[in-house]
Amino acid sequence: MSNISDWVRANIRSLKPYSSARDEYTGKVGLFLDANENSIGSVSDTKNNRYPDPHQSEVKAMISKILDLEEQNIFLGNGSDEAIDLLIRIFCEPKEEEIIVLPPTYGMYKVAADINNVAVTEVPLDENFDLDVDGILKAVKPNTKILFICSPNNPTANMMSPERVEIILQNFAGIVVIDEAYIDFTEKKNMLHAFKLYPKLVILRTFSKAWGMANIRLGMAFGDEELIRFMNNVKPPYNVNGVTQDIALNALKNLDKKDSMLKDIKEGRSVLINKLAPLPLIEKIYPSDANFILVKFWDSAGVFSHLLNHKIIVRDRSKQPGCENCLRITVGTKEENETLINTISELG
Ligand SMILES: Cc1ncc(COP(=O)(O)O)c(C=O)c1O
Repeated sequence: MSNISDWVRANIRSLKPYSSARDEYTGKVGLFLDANENSIGSVSDTKNNRYPDPHQSEVKAMISKILDLEEQNIFLGNGSDEAIDLLIRIFCEPKEEEIIVLPPTYGMYKVAADINNVAVTEVPLDENFDLDVDGILKAVKPNTKILFICSPNNPTANMMSPERVEIILQNFAGIVVIDEAYIDFTEKKNMLHAFKLYPKLVILRTFSKAWGMANIRLGMAFGDEELIRFMNNVKPPYNVNGVTQDIALNALKNLDKKDSMLKDIKEGRSVLINKLAPLPLIEKIYPSDANFILVKFWDSAGVFSHLLNHKIIVRDRSKQPGCENCLRITVGTKEENETLINTISELG
């Protein structure tokens, strides 16, 4: 099986996608009586009575310019969580096929597989939270369809080493998804354009992190034109609403603001690491390529409840494999970081 379509479920391969009113007439001027909208107007303050562009063409045009990609290589979804779900639905036959995930990692890969009744094989990351290449390749079975790699990884904050990713790409025949949700927070090399060499590679990104737009739910997938076409065939027609598209278009014109926030977040990350690392109640802080740090305490439960008593909420990751006594802490504003540091310092 070498072509993308060979890896796609038979029912998806033969799917005749829904054709919406906005697919059938794409002009902008006219008397629109084709979509059963409310022609008079909206109850909301802003004008929302028309269905949005199902292809998100203007947003894709801007993204393609910024990232130097063709529009056909871009999928936009209701958060990258939608892309994760769609990929599983496109490639994995429920009850028959499976995915591989690499814990500790982002939980939605497994949840999306569970919802779709697709089995999950777990191959833990190694002691440095890097890929266990042999373990992964040994875990591959004839019915393994997708491998999810999160890089930088949530919750461990590190990038996977590029040499190991390369070995996987050369030796795993199925679909490799590299989730780059946190890629803007590192200077290390990204894999965005690698799908041109490896057509079964999909890269995920999101507006929820560096762009600071988690509320509008906009995620991106980048890949080979054929693979992206399958994603567009399967998605609900209006999966990205018009309000989101308008806000994204404006944001994409304002790259300077993103860069300036990135600078502040990276500075905040350094302050957090430098101030927390010497505290005796901390065993270790893992290096971070993301907008959060993973901190290993001697007693994470005590720190967690102390913080909670001060209404400071961090993520308890201590039950994740390899993350005993670990809390995941998001970099906040300058003031929030100071409050966190002071509150943790109270414990000694
Ligand atoms: C690694 C990773 N991928 C994807 C997501 C979800 O992104 P979105 O908000 O675009 O659905 C998250 C959210 O925390 C994440 O940590």
